Amino acid sequence: MRSLTSSPGPVDLAEQYAYPSESPSQGTWLRANMVAALDGAAQRDERSGGLGNEADRRLFLLLRGLADAVIVGAGTVRAEGYGPVRPVPEWGPVRDGRPPVPPLVIVSRSLGLDFEAPVFTEARVPTIVLTCADADPERLREARGHAEVIVAGKRALDFGVAFRALAAMGHRRLLCEGGPAVLGQIAAAGLLDELCLTLSPMLLGGDALRILDGPSVPDPAAWTLAHALTDDDFLFLRYTRATR
Ligand SMILES: NC(=O)c1ccc[n+]([C@@H]2O[C@H](COP(=O)([O-])OP(=O)(O)OC[C@H]3O[C@@H](n4cnc5c(N)ncnc54)[C@H](OP(=O)(O)O)[C@@H]3O)[C@@H](O)[C@H]2O)c1
Repeated sequence: MRSLTSSPGPVDLAEQYAYPSESPSQGTWLRANMVAALDGAAQRDERSGGLGNEADRRLFLLLRGLADAVIVGAGTVRAEGYGPVRPVPEWGPVRDGRPPVPPLVIVSRSLGLDFEAPVFTEARVPTIVLTCADADPERLREARGHAEVIVAGKRALDFGVAFRALAAMGHRRLLCEGGPAVLGQIAAAGLLDELCLTLSPMLLGGDALRILDGPSVPDPAAWTLAHALTDDDFLFLRYTRATR
């Protein structure tokens, strides 16, 4: 064992979290950003906001700025009352040459979404809905009136097909903000390239979800620690998949 090297000064976060310049063969790089308590709890009072600190919030916003598209499950949109992605001054030049914000990509089978909510009506770039062919036709029609819709897979969404469709739209640097049901399926399908995990200095117990709530991951892979940063007793871990 050895201690983590600590640099005395603050780090350049945009540099630390830059996406790899070479895309993997599939054409996308999927990063997930999640926060968990020391006991693995990924929810506090049914939400994730109570787990983070100010630095986690800043990182959350920066990772959005670095991404071409931000994927999130409908469960999280409903639980957290998601609005559209809004630009922040701290992004500086990270979006040079790209639209002012990345679109939000909402994963939903039921399409039980409020299409009159700001997440659709106030989005700077159209919100995208990812769904499957078995979605209710009436709701699908409504979704198409308020969002760009990608249909991938029949009964269940095929995330591989969905990501290729996003890549074809120019969205290659993907960020998944959860929740555990969506991320669990993505990880089990072997489609996760990187995990940014904030470890929050709390013990919560109870029956909170962990960051993955899906099938077993058939190939647990080996994850490589790209860096570990700290702020105020929080750890900010960045792991990348060793092989693909
Ligand atoms: N700790 C963290 O970093 C973190 C991050 C995000 C969220 N959270 C927390 O996690 C909780 C929500 O997570 P969750 O796991 O319940 O929900 P989720 O993963 O955000 O969303 C689940 C929903 O996504 C849709 N979906 C999932 N798989 C699908 C598939 N294969 N095909 C089509 N649609 C699919 C379904 O939407 P429909 O029901 O519309 O069909 C499903 O109900 C909240 O408490 C939130 O605060 C924590």
